[in-house]
Amino acid sequence: MKDKETKYQLLYKQIESLLNGETDAIAVMANVASIIHETFHFWWTGFYRVANAELLLGPFQGPVACMHIPYGKGVCGTAWKEAHTIVVPDVEQFPGHIACSSQSRSEIVVPVFQNNIIVAVLDIDSCDLNTFDSIDALWLERINTLVAKTDFHTTTHEKEIYLAAGCFWGAEKFLKLIKGVTFSEVGFANGNIDNPTYEEVYTDQTGFAETVHLRYNSTIVGLRFLLEMYFKAIDPTSLNKQGEDEGTRYRTGIYYTDPADRNIIDLVVSKEAEKHGLPLQVEVMPLQNFFRADEFHQDYLDKNPSGYCHLPIALFELANNSKPKTDH
Ligand code: SME
Repeated sequence: MKDKETKYQLLYKQIESLLNGETDAIAVMANVASIIHETFHFWWTGFYRVANAELLLGPFQGPVACMHIPYGKGVCGTAWKEAHTIVVPDVEQFPGHIACSSQSRSEIVVPVFQNNIIVAVLDIDSCDLNTFDSIDALWLERINTLVAKTDFHTTTHEKEIYLAAGCFWGAEKFLKLIKGVTFSEVGFANGNIDNPTYEEVYTDQTGFAETVHLRYNSTIVGLRFLLEMYFKAIDPTSLNKQGEDEGTRYRTGIYYTDPADRNIIDLVVSKEAEKHGLPLQVEVMPLQNFFRADEFHQDYLDKNPSGYCHLPIALFELANNSKPKTDH
């Protein structure tokens, strides 16, 4: 009998040739679910697609299953929210596990990523305890990269925005806590040289603003809500100064890559201006360039919880507990 690793090696090759040139995500998920199921004889093997801010049942093999799984619920919704594979050795021990079938005893859920956005999850259930381990996780993640090459256009709803809000350490921590934000990185935007170092930006001679690049799922959170939250973390009337940080690198700015976003940006900015009765100092411009900062600066406050932060801790709770709204 072939061991699991060998079976997966063969399976991966089969899937690779099966999918060669195929572009329709549903057709591909149908055959991938089938071939995995036939290879291992699991209890249930299938996909849930991200659609209208929930997970919706997709192609599968096995008994009837629940059709809708909310964000953050069950193993599937948790894998979506936390954006990583979850191996569950015993479903009874997983708080909030959704039991579609009483036969299911262990489970693995593996997200399908497209440009860092989760577009679906692969869910596999077994009638035995402890069926899945890191070998399954590794190979199923590889298989999902093949699935991700197909066209999920109608279901991704991926958008992006670049926000300068003073020191990017605290700004990133705050913004990425907002539900629906699927990716964040910090870097330098709209300056006048290529590949600036932190030290060069620090001179204030290169024109860059410390900026957080966000990707978000617009079926969960809209730009309007994101910007309203952004304004809670800045003093929009202050020029080139946020908290104790001073200089053009700490200016505030909203930099967009989709010109269609301009209307919503202008709307939120003018509402904020009314509140303050003063002209705002927030720059609104198309993104001209962006250079990712060193790894040292990425997720800085997660790595250094007592590190410098110009934002009050209460803001992080606000972001964490916020109920996102879409633009529609
Ligand atoms: N157990 C899953 C629900 C889907 S079924 O297993 C097919 C969960 O907790 O998300």
